[in-house]
Amino acid sequence: MDKDIDIILKKYKQGKREDLIPILQEIQEEHGYLSEEAIVRIGSFVGLSTTKIYGLATFYDQFRFIPSGKINIRICHGTSCFLNGSREIINKITEEKGILPGQTTRDGNLSVEIVSCMGGCNNGPVINVNGQYYTHIKAEQLAELIKKLTYVIEQD
Ligand code: FES
Repeated sequence: MDKDIDIILKKYKQGKREDLIPILQEIQEEHGYLSEEAIVRIGSFVGLSTTKIYGLATFYDQFRFIPSGKINIRICHGTSCFLNGSREIINKITEEKGILPGQTTRDGNLSVEIVSCMGGCNNGPVINVNGQYYTHIKAEQLAELIKKLTYVIEQD
């Protein structure tokens, strides 16, 4: 993984802090998340402490610090989705699966993230499962979808 990070970093000029976000985005796109190792390498490349990088990266919804599950569910918690019941969905899934938003189940099958507006406010609650959007979703429908997807990944 160290080598992959170096290949990405070579595209940027060392010490240029304005490149931080594009670097984080590119490494996450490549690895699926930002590992501790990546944060340390990026920190020494741009000249910022790891604490500063975590602080900046956690400000954005888009960055993950643990690997995603095989089923990665992103639940919108923007105002409109909140008013349409996204909290109920979040509560149900986190209770049932025993994980908090931002975590992945021990078996690596499922991860849940909370994100802000995904641009479909009139159709909330909106969720995104492995890149596919679902609108007007209800907690029971999501439970059903997870069951189906879990079955599929267990057959692989
Ligand atoms: S608030 Fe959820 S899509 Fe806009």
